[in-house]
Amino acid sequence: MNEVLRAIKERRSIRAFKHDPVEPEKVEAILEAGRWAPSGRNTQPWRFVLVQSPEKRQELAKLVPQGDMVRTAPITLAILRDRQAGYDPIKDAEGIGACAQNILLAVHSLGLGACWIGRMQDKEVESLLGAREHEELMMLIPIGYPAERPAPRERKPLVELVRRI
Ligand SMILES: Cc1cc2nc3c(=O)[nH]c(=O)nc-3n(C[C@H](O)[C@H](O)[C@H](O)COP(=O)(O)O)c2cc1C
Repeated sequence: MNEVLRAIKERRSIRAFKHDPVEPEKVEAILEAGRWAPSGRNTQPWRFVLVQSPEKRQELAKLVPQGDMVRTAPITLAILRDRQAGYDPIKDAEGIGACAQNILLAVHSLGLGACWIGRMQDKEVESLLGAREHEELMMLIPIGYPAERPAPRERKPLVELVRRI
């Protein structure tokens, strides 16, 4: 199996983090992986907010479900959809999903862990993130060195998923 296929299979959602900081060059590599995601009409409707300061992390943790992850992860990456850059809510969300998966795979490949925290529509959270009027929060991704090694969660077998015609 090549490196990409192995990373796809071995990546896990990590929900417990060590306190060690994430090196700046790794943060850049992760953002770069997100930047190269495909998007409808190449509109690249994602915008990134890195929540790094201890104060902002604590404030954010109080406002979101599973705040412990945000409290303990040295970095939380918020991905926003820029409605002005995009052109269709579904296509934009699809592209942002691809962007998030690129990020999760980059995180894993760098020996880090992360978890996708699903979309929350919350004005207070968007305001804390400094979201602009035409931006909406799509997901939060706490990132850090893993403090757990979860077992793989079961996947449906291909035979249940695929029809060949
Ligand atoms: C759209 C989406 C939303 C998710 N939301 C959450 C969430 O809010 N909280 C959480 O702990 N995990 C969340 N996850 C992670 C899934 O629970 C996880 O990917 C799934 O259980 C499979 O486990 P694995 O990632 O370790 O393979 C989300 C994943 C996706 C793709």
